[in-house]
Amino acid sequence: MRVLSGVQPSGKLHLGNYLGALKQHIELQHDNEAFYFIANYHSLTTVQDAERLRALTRDVALDYLALGLDPDKACLFRQSDIPEVCELTWILSTVTGEGLLRRAHSYKDKIAKGITASMGLFCYPVLMAADILIYRSDIVPVGQDQVQHVEMTQDMAQYFNNTYDCEVFVRPEARLDEACVVPGIDGQKMSKSYDNTIELFDTPKKTRKRIMSIKTDSTPVEDPKDPEKCNVFAIFRLLASREEVEAMDAAYRKGGLGYGDVKKRVAELFEETFGPARERRVELAANPDHVEDVLTDGARRARTIARQVMADVHQACGIMASKITNR
Ligand code: ADP
Ligand code: TRP
Repeated sequence: MRVLSGVQPSGKLHLGNYLGALKQHIELQHDNEAFYFIANYHSLTTVQDAERLRALTRDVALDYLALGLDPDKACLFRQSDIPEVCELTWILSTVTGEGLLRRAHSYKDKIAKGITASMGLFCYPVLMAADILIYRSDIVPVGQDQVQHVEMTQDMAQYFNNTYDCEVFVRPEARLDEACVVPGIDGQKMSKSYDNTIELFDTPKKTRKRIMSIKTDSTPVEDPKDPEKCNVFAIFRLLASREEVEAMDAAYRKGGLGYGDVKKRVAELFEETFGPARERRVELAANPDHVEDVLTDGARRARTIARQVMADVHQACGIMASKITNR
């Protein structure tokens, strides 16, 4: 199966991004042909500072590699190294009704929040469809919030195939991980936009401080507590073993357990899970040439496929190339 996904370099990656997306990306590299890219064109809809975009792009590459992406197995690249996706975005937009894009939840949410939409934000799902279709991807592992975009991609593939009476695009399917929605330190969905994240690669001291500031209620230590209503437990259960979760569940219900102690355990578990990756990340950051080589090689492999698919697209819709376009 060909697996593809992208992560926007729009802020520092956090526990929600890892459990909802990157963890399954890395697992899927073993038995599939995997393609993962840093969606820097998408980020231009929110990050409009060149220095910051460059730094965040590099950070996402380091995060993936430190967390276990193996460049010999999976292809890691920058979206912008495959400029054909922008060309395909245009072509797909000519077979897609604007009503489809108006129904996008993420667009409607942003408009409801009073954000003035750029054309880029409106067309964001078409760019995402181009990302997916240009590699004839079968499976797209994403979090819940991206499922509608994958469904729109299925529609766009069909519009193109029907319009030109061809089978150029295959139908991609979204794949969801069990982690569903990881809560932030305030109990809402963990998100860069809510300032409630636990970053994956902050310093140990800052990470601990962040974990100690997870919001809790004021139930006294001696009283029994409901684990299902506790933010600390919600994060704890994502990091601990099943036995430990069961034991902690019982301790909550029994009473005599302070939230502070559970937070300390969460901090330890976080360190056990991400400490070794933090060290690897430091080593990788000291070798930027290696990271650049990985991205360049990934782009070369991805672009070979993108060009073949674009040749079929051109053939289907009647776009002709002169020698100067080097297609
Ligand atoms: P953010 O909301 O922080 O801006 P993105 O929209 O860039 O995150 O999401 C990148 C990937 O991480 C997506 O596949 C998304 O579904 C997943 N993701 C983000 N936040 C969470 C969360 N709190 N729980 C589970 N998955 C998440
Ligand atoms: N929109 C996705 C997000 O914000 C990132 C993304 C861009 C993507 N293109 C993609 C994900 C293609 C999967 C496939 O998380």
